[in-house]
Amino acid sequence: PEGVARNGDGEVAVHGIAVSELAAEYGTPLYVVDEDDLRSRARAFRDAFDEAFADLAGGVDVYYAGKAFLTVDVARWVTEEGLRLDTCSGGELAVARRAGVPAANLSLHGNNKSVAEIEAALTMGLGRIVVDSLDELERVGRTAERLGTTGSIMLRLTPGVHASTHEFIATAHEDQKFGLSMVDDDGASPAQRAVAFALEHPRLELLGVHAHIGSQIFEASGFAVAARKLLAFTAAVKAEHGVELAEMDLGGGYGIAYTEADTPRPAGELAAAMAAVVRETVAELGIACPRISIEPGRAISGPAGFTLYETGVQKTVAVEAGESTLPRRYISVDGGMSDNARPVLYEADYTAVVANRVTESDAIVSRVVGKHCESGDIVVRDVYLPEDVAAGDLLAVPATGAYCWALSSNYNYLARPAVVAVRGGASRLMVRRETEDDLLARDMGA
Ligand code: LLP
Repeated sequence: PEGVARNGDGEVAVHGIAVSELAAEYGTPLYVVDEDDLRSRARAFRDAFDEAFADLAGGVDVYYAGKAFLTVDVARWVTEEGLRLDTCSGGELAVARRAGVPAANLSLHGNNKSVAEIEAALTMGLGRIVVDSLDELERVGRTAERLGTTGSIMLRLTPGVHASTHEFIATAHEDQKFGLSMVDDDGASPAQRAVAFALEHPRLELLGVHAHIGSQIFEASGFAVAARKLLAFTAAVKAEHGVELAEMDLGGGYGIAYTEADTPRPAGELAAAMAAVVRETVAELGIACPRISIEPGRAISGPAGFTLYETGVQKTVAVEAGESTLPRRYISVDGGMSDNARPVLYEADYTAVVANRVTESDAIVSRVVGKHCESGDIVVRDVYLPEDVAAGDLLAVPATGAYCWALSSNYNYLARPAVVAVRGGASRLMVRRETEDDLLARDMGA
């Protein structure tokens, strides 16, 4: 993050607070969030998209995708920075409500929303529900009728774009669970049927169409293809029903740098590329430019956070390398797959640095592993770390601000780490560390 640098003693410090101070005060493992950095990334997205779309009639909204990392504080921060908030469950909606986010600024996603979740959204007058299937469309319509309200909806379509670094996070092609297909099925596509149904339904207000094409994307081309497809669909709706859809959402998925191998593009470049395609396509199709929205999660919270671990035991093994063997050192830390599931789930790469001191000792190939009872419990697969790393050193793993706390678990009855915010030279607990009592709190036999 922006506020992180080595101090005069060679120790990593966040806005002047040394990691050893944070470790002493809050313990390890610890999620550290640079609040200024998160806020400035939120602003950067908003400013970049505002500027790029300034000449387009519809304008633009940036929704922060809460699934990446959501606490009551985070919901407040993004709201203060002028973003809206995208949720994908009743639980995330509850966090947003507790933070005081206005219902009109909220969006609800999910491929299998419960009736209770739909009721909650309709009752609070949510800005929009992103409807994922025909079944769900009927369910939202029926629920709105029963409650005597109107549901504002977007339809999530699958424009058939693969844009991802890993199959499990590619979400807009046909053979996966999300969204309404745009492929003709006996005279009309599910997407077309959904539009017809929504337009006729007295309790549904159809705002527009949505697509999320994947995650950790570095190029604008996938978004451009999706935008063209959605705009062509919008033009077809106008031709068939005489209705101009007011909105279009291009989802999230903007990539970040986990290691030096990753080369994300600045928000401004993506925004400009996307605006250019939208501008050109609406002119070509002769339709009004819908209001555009996007839903970045990782790109806002990911780089703003890092995880601090204390190192423990080590061992070195010989690994075969052609004719000879090479040593590989294993360094165990006090957390692991319960605080960062991404290496196990997606073979995600991270890096690590010794954060509590600088050392002149030679760097050797090391594998940082957790303390779980599982050999796949890897934090960083391969990283050069100084030979003299010893038990008690602090390791920092950057870019853990998204999908780490959010995906954390109590596997092996480890307590979830605390989350700490640093801003303007002061640190503050955002979420306290779990205790043994927390771990036993719901066990009725205890
Ligand atoms: N909008 C929708 C509809 C989504 O499904 C997602 C992510 C986003 C926005 C935000 O995407 P982002 O900008 O954060 O990439 N756990 C996986 C990522 C799952 C993403 C799911 N949907 C990971 O850790 O890589």
